[in-house]
Amino acid sequence: MTPEQNDRLTRVGPGTPMGALMRRYWQPIAASVDVNERTPTKLIKILGEELVLYRNRSGGVGLIGPRCAHRNASLLYSVPEPNGVRCCYHGWLYDEKGVCIERPNEPKELANIVKIPSYPVQERGGLVFAYLGPEPVPLLPNWDVLAWPNVTRKISAAILPCNWLQCMENSLDPVHFEWLHRYYGTYEMLRQDPSRKLDEWNATTARRGKHHVKLGFELTSYGIIKRRLLDGEKESDDHWRMGHPILFPNVLRVGMYDWHGLHYRVPMDDVTTLHIMVDLDLPKPNTQAEPQDSVPAKYWPLYDENNQLIQTFSGPHEPYHVVVQDQVAWIAQGAISDRTNEKLAATDIGIAYYRKLLSQQMDLVEKGQDPMNVHRDADPDDCIVLPIENARYPGDGEGETGGPFKDYVPKKPDYERVLK
Ligand code: FES
Ligand SMILES: [Fe+2]
Repeated sequence: MTPEQNDRLTRVGPGTPMGALMRRYWQPIAASVDVNERTPTKLIKILGEELVLYRNRSGGVGLIGPRCAHRNASLLYSVPEPNGVRCCYHGWLYDEKGVCIERPNEPKELANIVKIPSYPVQERGGLVFAYLGPEPVPLLPNWDVLAWPNVTRKISAAILPCNWLQCMENSLDPVHFEWLHRYYGTYEMLRQDPSRKLDEWNATTARRGKHHVKLGFELTSYGIIKRRLLDGEKESDDHWRMGHPILFPNVLRVGMYDWHGLHYRVPMDDVTTLHIMVDLDLPKPNTQAEPQDSVPAKYWPLYDENNQLIQTFSGPHEPYHVVVQDQVAWIAQGAISDRTNEKLAATDIGIAYYRKLLSQQMDLVEKGQDPMNVHRDADPDDCIVLPIENARYPGDGEGETGGPFKDYVPKKPDYERVLK
């Protein structure tokens, strides 16, 4: 890969082809609970642009430019009003469209003339989503994880000092599970705590890290489904038959047993990524989940007291050791991985396929067309249910998995490779 090709795939600032592609999608920018009565404003950075997210006194959210048009005071320091936010300095009031609807001490006839940037926002599943692209504004897809009722959700997030593509390429690379999560993960678990019992780890998460013998990648309307055949498995087994999807361009759909999640890798700028995850647990069959007034959110620290990346199996990240191991791999590749010197191998067919798809979709946007997975016509209330291997779905009984995909017979993958 040339330096120019690497730049084209990774750089996301205003005016870049990848930035233009990313702006065609609703992107999560914060947890809903991040803007509240006590802390009504939050500085946001997305795709190289600084903005202020706020919650007004009526409970609505808005996303506007970071500075007041009057004399550039930061709107991070503003007062929420029922219909917008009021600049701390001289009281100019902005609504959610960025229009200055009130300028105290100025002639009334000049109201509604001044405007600052603004973008549409909406809340779903405990996240605030923003759309930064051209009109007409597409629909926010009603993915199952955002839409299912009677579940318990939580948000987890970390701000990573690396380019977004490192995170996403990892999702097209099934074989890393065998090494990063099973081999290195087990090593790291015992290095940190030799008394740790391996049984549970081997019986659950590490079980998915068995030797890979075949990979498959299938293009769907919303992204790529990755399939893997592990040692001793048949093609009728879930890992191959159902796999799980990457939602184009920057989301991984995950799940196992009663857990389902959407993991978004949102480019804040070229070298910073908001990894924000909404995860849910299903209640036991035929029971009700505890109602949630709001979805709790937690931002993870990255470094421990020795200034090393956290990769722990104990402490606050206990359920997330897999994600934390992934984060170590992504960050350790550097701020922007130098793809000019990499040596892609047989196991990397998913990465090559994904890069090709990104490139094709950037070309479409440059021609003024919609890229894939932009939703315009669906009923916005339609829940889009996605396939996840080895997971129970709402309506499945105890021990059942697969939901609407129980009997799904996959087509031959668009790309597949038998491994040694
Ligand atoms: S700088 Fe905001 S009102 Fe004057
Ligand atoms: Fe991983």
